[in-house]
Amino acid sequence: TIEQRIDGLLQQMTLEEKIGQLNQYSGREVTGPASNRKNDLLNSIRSGQVGSMLNVKGVADTRTIQAEALKSRLKIPLLFSLDVIHGYQTVFPIPLGEAASWDLAAIRESAHVAAREAAASGIHWTFAPMVDIGRDPRWGRVMEGAGEDTYLGSQIARARVLGFQGEKLGGTDAIMACAKHFAAYGAALAGRDYNAVDMSEQQLWEVYLPPFKAAADAGVATFMNSFNTLNGVPATGNSYLQRDILKGQWQYPGFVVSDWGSIAEMVPWGYAQNKTDAAQKALAAGSDMDMESDAYHTTLAQSVKDGKADVKLVDDAVRRILRKKFELGLFDDPYRFSDLKREKKVLNDPQHRVAARDAARKSVVLLENRNNTLPLAQQRTIAVIGPLAKAKRDLAGSWIVLADTTQITSLHDGLTKRAGKNAQIRYAKGCEVEGDSRAGFAQAVETAKAADVVVLALGETWDMSGEAKSRTDIHLPGVQEELFQALKATGKPIVMVLLAGRPLIFNTIADQADAVLYGWFPGSEGGTALADVLYGDYNPGGKLPSTFPRAVGQIPLNYQQYNTGRPVTKPGDIRYKSAYIDAPNTPRYAFGHGLSYTTFKYDNLKLSQPTMQAGQTVTLQCTVTNSGKVAGEEVVQLYLRDLVASVARPLKELKDFQKISLKPGETKTLTFTIDQNKLAFYNRKLEWQAEPGDFQLMLGSASDDIRLESKLTLLP
Ligand code: IFM
Repeated sequence: TIEQRIDGLLQQMTLEEKIGQLNQYSGREVTGPASNRKNDLLNSIRSGQVGSMLNVKGVADTRTIQAEALKSRLKIPLLFSLDVIHGYQTVFPIPLGEAASWDLAAIRESAHVAAREAAASGIHWTFAPMVDIGRDPRWGRVMEGAGEDTYLGSQIARARVLGFQGEKLGGTDAIMACAKHFAAYGAALAGRDYNAVDMSEQQLWEVYLPPFKAAADAGVATFMNSFNTLNGVPATGNSYLQRDILKGQWQYPGFVVSDWGSIAEMVPWGYAQNKTDAAQKALAAGSDMDMESDAYHTTLAQSVKDGKADVKLVDDAVRRILRKKFELGLFDDPYRFSDLKREKKVLNDPQHRVAARDAARKSVVLLENRNNTLPLAQQRTIAVIGPLAKAKRDLAGSWIVLADTTQITSLHDGLTKRAGKNAQIRYAKGCEVEGDSRAGFAQAVETAKAADVVVLALGETWDMSGEAKSRTDIHLPGVQEELFQALKATGKPIVMVLLAGRPLIFNTIADQADAVLYGWFPGSEGGTALADVLYGDYNPGGKLPSTFPRAVGQIPLNYQQYNTGRPVTKPGDIRYKSAYIDAPNTPRYAFGHGLSYTTFKYDNLKLSQPTMQAGQTVTLQCTVTNSGKVAGEEVVQLYLRDLVASVARPLKELKDFQKISLKPGETKTLTFTIDQNKLAFYNRKLEWQAEPGDFQLMLGSASDDIRLESKLTLLP
């Protein structure tokens, strides 16, 4: 068995060789601060001092480097890891965009395609999915997660893990996934990356941990810890998180990799004296692999000899890592992921672009559509304007790997191709994303005047979100909103296409544009997908996975608000109420919001019984009818409120959803099952419990668009 083979190996390994397995170095590229490590990398690999490499890719390179590892005394193969976040060669929408699809099958397929390409190109392991709940759009990494909601985030975590890994590790079209960043990284204070996190246990367990648990339950092979402290203790040195919860309570059998340099960073945090101390603390706390701190490699052997580090913990970490190498089949064939023929074939599989287009159009959210401006009519002159109208690289967003960005379809390309001979496309840039030059405005206005409709592409550049890309101001950068106003003044209908890695604030546009599409960064087929939506070849069904605030000062803002003791009950009546005097409490666009080219009618609410005994389940049914003229998709969302409890509960919590597609006039009956688990929360003793009492059940098209309501009583 694998465990016996591991035992055999462990018996032969020297302490230095064991620690070598815990050591991970980066290849040529860096995804963190460059280290001042001076060792000869290949020599370290040959002498068994390295267990894994990150940032090495491609069959040629991985073969060459693996060959060096196989020259080591025990010939233990390396693990090649990489940030395959939303595609490898074929770029899918950024993860936050994909989350807007609420389409678990499409999300799983996207991860599968990424894994298939990476696995054909020498990669064994991706540092994805990021399952951090992100409730602060200033934080640049919201682009990489599934948004603000724990239920949706947990479903997506599972879909992504299964997409990357398949049902069982070991296939050559799958790679190991990594649930990151454990834990609570998304709650970094003030949205500033790498910052401290201060959070109640209840928040931690209820909001931030469940997506990690969902990933663990789906069999995720690895976890990555995080840069932040949690209530004063760096996650990397946090035994409560890694030993008590993950490896204790959850019995997690995989291994934990540190984040880039996060072991050594416990020194500047003021939590460790020096690297030696940091390595001891990280090991004791359950960090198995050291990414780029070079702390285990340089200090741990001595610490073991000095009795300051427990060799049993070293053995346990080595065992966890070797287990994955066995499960991947690397001991049987260390090159099984590095096959030139397969690489060539898989990377050019045209089906992957088809999947990317599908994911991209499903991720688009229609925020406004005044006077049915969209879909575009045929036979028109279309002015395609804006700094992102011809953008290619930006459409890929942050974290791309091997993509040839010249092959990305821009919005201009997509529209030109779709319009064919039926419409004329005119182009003007207008301005840059950043900067204050208005020199291009005049030409943009002229172009608009000569057209029937303006499609205006504004937003962020690809590198304004992602790691280390926090912003204090999330309005549209530069003079873009002014460009919008100049074009609006022409009187032409303005269709906005907003492209960004986070929720942005754009109040004037939201108020005045004729239509607004939020495209996130849609990837390789972004322009085609946007043209599909603009022309109505595809009816948008995306729903926001994050709240869009009106003002930066409202942040953090999410739909799970509390009633407070002084709720605002009438708009504007705010004296001595929980409110702002300069802005409403409500968001600009609520979680779950997204329009369609058709309309949906919700009827016939039926709760199987008004009361429920402990241990019972009830069903909630409704019908949804497509009451418009075109086929469309709707995400029916089930929210719940526990009216009185031992801990004050939010006004709404998402508990379930179903995505359905309906032809015009078609009706479907949906059934939601409500069990005690759906009514439960963590009480003051941190017990997951449903308390008897009344619950408000809400079915809706968005968190602020509840269509049907009912009441359920849980009996004592
Ligand atoms: O995987 C990433 C992580 O999310 C942030 N720091 C760098 C790692 C490796 O590139």
